[in-house]
Amino acid sequence: MNRVALGHWPTPLEPAPALSEYLGLRAGDLWVKRDDLTALVGGNKVRKLEHTVGAALAEGADVLVTTGAEQSNHARATAAAAARLGLGCVLVLGGTPPATPTGNALLDRLFGAELVWTDDLERTAGQVVERLRDAGRRPYRVPFGGSGPVGALGYREAADELLAQRPDLAHVVVAVGSGGTMAGLVAGLGAGRVLGVDVGAVPDAAERVAGMVAALGAPADGLRLRTDQVGEGYGRPTDEARRSIHAAARLAGLVLDPVYTAKAFAGLYASVADGGIRPGEPTVFLHSGGLPGFFAAPEAALSAPPPRD
Ligand SMILES: Cc1ncc(COP(=O)(O)O)c(C=O)c1O
Repeated sequence: MNRVALGHWPTPLEPAPALSEYLGLRAGDLWVKRDDLTALVGGNKVRKLEHTVGAALAEGADVLVTTGAEQSNHARATAAAAARLGLGCVLVLGGTPPATPTGNALLDRLFGAELVWTDDLERTAGQVVERLRDAGRRPYRVPFGGSGPVGALGYREAADELLAQRPDLAHVVVAVGSGGTMAGLVAGLGAGRVLGVDVGAVPDAAERVAGMVAALGAPADGLRLRTDQVGEGYGRPTDEARRSIHAAARLAGLVLDPVYTAKAFAGLYASVADGGIRPGEPTVFLHSGGLPGFFAAPEAALSAPPPRD
């Protein structure tokens, strides 16, 4: 296994008693795994990059190429890792360049990445790799979201880290985008203890997670994946996500991002409401970061969320 050190481990596991009672759990039931505090401006992508960039260095790569949305946390973390390790970085991003870059798109520039905008991520990334090879460079393709069997190893390790901190944990709740985070946790903890909340980034999240779990040599039966928190689509905050942002801020001093962690927390709320997670069961909410995305979409936090029906 090739791994390059990028983050600060273990990340803290903090109790959140007021937030736990807000959910309808007992005060001592809820803990927050602070993977927003990893490194490279934070978030879950750092654990995956330790492995994907480790593989790139082992192959002698000198430039990282990856894809993502304009506000991709993964693209930003890849650009930061490249800067830290003295590698080149080309980010292939969806859409057209924003007039005023904010959040992650601003940080991508700051870290010195070359940005290529397109409507076809895969095709353009392939062309970028060819162009770099023709120029005598040694490019390495980091997969979308950093998710694949190599990147997911980072979360298989995180499962051990969590078990050392909380051996009795019953549930870990995590946002699912490209799926590598959930896949690694399932490989390490078993499917029964991991609740994924799909945020709508890909149409086939369940298949992707199952494929990565299998590639890691673990059973993928009985995956727990909620698909009812996507709302109008990826990146479109729901009312429940907005309530989650307000609750986490006011009751725990935590900032959730509107695209991933707020929807994951909304899924946790729904699971307590429907009895999937019950009082007395030690529950970890994995805070997977995304803070720059919060500043790129402040509307989600500006007004008070509407009351529940
Ligand atoms: C902040 C944040 N949380 C969660 C996720 C989901 O992780 P994964 O892509 O491994 O499913 C992502 C990325 O997609 C993310 O940027």
